[in-house]
Amino acid sequence: MLESATLHIPGRFVSIDNSTETAPMGVKRVLVIGYSQSGQLSRIVARIVAPLLCDPHIQVHIETLKPNPPFAFPWSLRGFLDAFPESALQLPGALEPLSLSGDENFDLIILPYQVWFLAPSQPIVAFMHHPRARQLLAGKPIVTVIACRNMWLMAQEKMKCHIESVGARLIDNVVLTDNAHTLATLITTPLWVLSGNRQVLRSLPPAGVAEKDIEQATRFGHALRDALHGNREKQTAPLLSGLRAATVNPNLLVSEKTATRSFFIWGHLLHAAGPPGSAQRVPLLAIYSLFLVVMVATVVPLSLALQAALRPLLARRLGALKEKFEQPSGSASDRMSRYD
Ligand SMILES: Cc1cc2nc3c(=O)[nH]c(=O)nc-3n(C[C@H](O)[C@H](O)[C@H](O)COP(=O)(O)O)c2cc1C
Repeated sequence: MLESATLHIPGRFVSIDNSTETAPMGVKRVLVIGYSQSGQLSRIVARIVAPLLCDPHIQVHIETLKPNPPFAFPWSLRGFLDAFPESALQLPGALEPLSLSGDENFDLIILPYQVWFLAPSQPIVAFMHHPRARQLLAGKPIVTVIACRNMWLMAQEKMKCHIESVGARLIDNVVLTDNAHTLATLITTPLWVLSGNRQVLRSLPPAGVAEKDIEQATRFGHALRDALHGNREKQTAPLLSGLRAATVNPNLLVSEKTATRSFFIWGHLLHAAGPPGSAQRVPLLAIYSLFLVVMVATVVPLSLALQAALRPLLARRLGALKEKFEQPSGSASDRMSRYD
């Protein structure tokens, strides 16, 4: 039986299932599987799935990932730093049992995730390593939905590998980021996740994705609904092109690549020092956090300034990189008026 079509998600992901064991002929089944701490990502997902939930020909199952042990929100400084090695190295902990048996058959999978230390967050990586992931995802079209500060390029490259390794295919990628200046978000994002308050400093913009961008994410749901009606999820072309789904700032690529290399080395050092939460890690974590602050205060602005100076020379190369990393959905906006 289809449930009432309205979806209210006040804070976190809630498990919603308006689907039946076997969908009647002509009814499409959509799986949404993810995790959110502050509720930012779950609110974006709520906007995207609202048009699907309203449709009698579409069944939606929303599955919440529950890390075990859970990650506290807001984070303590130690907890935040302690999550770094396993996040950067993509060695996540356990998940509580899923409500899915793995035998369900979905037509489309929506995989929302946030970025932790330039990698997909630990809960979503834990799911991608879970035996059910292959059972549920193999051969299926995947729409990734990313909400993060603004550094997601390397994380999505890693996610592409996970998607490939479970035999699924990426059909679309939607990205929502904090629109404030990069240097401001380097301060506001940590303050937000460490305090739970989006605007700790009145002199800086509030952290996170703008309310207007969250509201307008409904356009992706409308486009997915139309695509499902037309069986277009079975084809290879993206379903969300022309909707400004993913806009890349190629200037951040150099910082992301440099930081990923350093995260790899530091991640291994810290992981070798002891398991998450262990006292042996503390001295190294203290040194690492100092290193991080120095990096953020020097390398990021330097690399941005250098790139600004070299922009005329690098324009063509950066343009090509922008187009490459914006695939498959792209940043074009020619279908926006139809779905706004
Ligand atoms: C431990 C941690 C690391 C993060 N690292 C990044 C990052 O590397 N790049 C980025 O753009 N955002 C990063 N963020 C911001 C998150 O991607 C996300 O926007 C924020 O945590 C809100 O997500 P939520 O929906 O789970 O509340 C990080 C957040 C946390 C808590």
